[in-house]
Amino acid sequence: MFDLTDHVALVFGAGSSGPGWGNGKATAVAYARAGAWVACVDLNPVAAEETAQIIAGEGGRAIALTGNVAAEADVAEAVSATLAEFGRIDILHNNTGITPFGGPVTMALDDWDRAMDVNVKSVLLSTRYVLPHMEKRGYGVITNISSVAGIRVSGYDMAAYSTSKAAVNQLTRTIALQYAAKGIRANAILPGLINTPLVRNGAGFKGHHGDAEKQMAERDAMSPTGKMGDAWDVAHAAVFLASKEAKYINGVLLPVDGGLSCRAR
Ligand SMILES: NC(=O)c1ccc[n+]([C@@H]2O[C@H](COP(=O)([O-])OP(=O)(O)OC[C@H]3O[C@@H](n4cnc5c(N)ncnc54)[C@H](O)[C@@H]3O)[C@@H](O)[C@H]2O)c1
Repeated sequence: MFDLTDHVALVFGAGSSGPGWGNGKATAVAYARAGAWVACVDLNPVAAEETAQIIAGEGGRAIALTGNVAAEADVAEAVSATLAEFGRIDILHNNTGITPFGGPVTMALDDWDRAMDVNVKSVLLSTRYVLPHMEKRGYGVITNISSVAGIRVSGYDMAAYSTSKAAVNQLTRTIALQYAAKGIRANAILPGLINTPLVRNGAGFKGHHGDAEKQMAERDAMSPTGKMGDAWDVAHAAVFLASKEAKYINGVLLPVDGGLSCRAR
């Protein structure tokens, strides 16, 4: 098991959009189980609090913060509150992502703007506020949650989403190279077909597949393994990337997808 004792993690999108385990919630808990102290930020205060309570209930240390990751003032406030509580930030984890549906002609322009704000600008904002702190300490790990949709066309009608995730990939690599000599690493995790509340409850996904049951069966069948992954698959990859054992892993776009991204069709 990888050890994150003496690490402080700041997780944006640390709640879950429905009951069960989403990627951000599982990752915040997994960081804490590895020994980290965790600041759980979410737009939904109840969701942030739930994750922080789970960590506290297991004997870990966490705070819950409310904020919109696409709003500069909220991000600045979350970073200051984390530093005030824990004194440092070793791990910045950008999980937040939204999945509006629609193609170039059919999508609402507002959806395009929201996807770019919540999925990409959020990463710019959080890194902008955390990097100077990490640079001063000569240490830091940034992990961005992208998607295999950023490197291949998923079959879902999600032009804004896949474009935003491709931008997250390139922003990750840009940060990785610019800060590599300063003790800071930046990587992206590219989840494939993961069974989370975001997908189970998403109207766009249900609309694509017809109904909820069909959706789960079809997504299982779409996976090379015959089964979707779960939030813990993403969470454990994040713990590894944050660990000292991953000290030479930088600028990587790591698919957590059961092999999906290897497929030609
Ligand atoms: N589930 C999958 O199959 C899959 C596949 C590829 C990538 N991903 C990526 O995983 C990430 C999300 O996974 P999840 O399971 O944790 O989703 P989730 O929707 O369950 O959790 C995301 C959390 O982010 C919060 N949030 C939404 N907008 C916010 C904002 N503007 N500011 C702050 N918080 C906000 C929500 O309230 C929610 O609690 C996304 O980046 C998504 O693109 C998921």
